[in-house]
Amino acid sequence: MSDKISIAIDGPAGAGKSTIAKRVAKELGFTYIDTGAIYRTMALYFIERGMDVSDETVVSSLCAHINVGIRYVDGAQHVFLEDRDVTDFIRTSEVGAGASKISAYPAVRASLLDLQRDMAEKDNVVMDGRDIGSVVLPNAEVKIYLTASVEERARRRYAEYVLAGQECDMENIKKEIEERDHRDMTREISPLICAPGATVIDSSHMNIDEVCAAVFELVDKAKAGKESV
Ligand code: DC
Repeated sequence: MSDKISIAIDGPAGAGKSTIAKRVAKELGFTYIDTGAIYRTMALYFIERGMDVSDETVVSSLCAHINVGIRYVDGAQHVFLEDRDVTDFIRTSEVGAGASKISAYPAVRASLLDLQRDMAEKDNVVMDGRDIGSVVLPNAEVKIYLTASVEERARRRYAEYVLAGQECDMENIKKEIEERDHRDMTREISPLICAPGATVIDSSHMNIDEVCAAVFELVDKAKAGKESV
C-alpha cells in the first residue's frame, strides 16, 4: 500500500488556510499547493485585458485556452500566466473578487481540475482551497475544514493588507469577506462545504502553533491508520 499522504484544507476567505498549510508542508517536507492562486491567475487574465469577469459566456469560451501554470522557485509556489510569472500581481482584492466570480463557472473549474490533480499525484501535498476535500482530492488521507469568525478573518486580512502597504478599510474588508463567503458557499458547482469526513477546526481563538498541532495530530492518526492496514 502506498504511504503517500494528501492533506486537504478547505475553508472560507481569511481563515488562515495558506499560513497553516505552508507551515505544515514545511515541517512535514510536503509540497504546498495554493489552489486559490490558480483561480486568481485565471481572473488576472481577464482583468488585465479589461474584460468583464461577470460575463460567464465570454469567460467560459476562453478559459480552456488560457495557460495557467505552477512552478516552485526556491521552494515557494509561483504562478504563471502564459509563461509570465504573475505571483506578485494576484493578491489584490480586485483579483480575489474576480477569482471568486469566475470560479463559479463550470467551464473554469473543469479547465483547472487536472492541473490540481496532476500536482497531487506526484508528491505528498498539502493543498488548500474551497473544494479540495469534496471534489479535487475526495480520497485525501487528511481533510480539514478551517474556519474562523467573520470578525477575526477581517482583522487578519486587514493586518495583511497593512503589512503589504495596501490601502484598506476594516468595514469594507468585512463586507468583501461576507460577499465572497456567500458567493463561494452558494454557487451551484463545487460550493465551499465541509467535505464528508473532514474535521472542523475553528481558529477564532487559536494561534498558529495550536492549529498546526491539531493538524499534526490528524496526520499522525492517518499515518497510524495506514500502517495498521
Ligand atoms: O483562497 P483565495 O482567496 O486565494 O481564493 C480566491 C477565490 O478562488 C475564492 O474566493 C474562490 C476561488 N477558489 C475556488 O473556487 N476553489 C478553490 N479550490 C480555491 C479558490
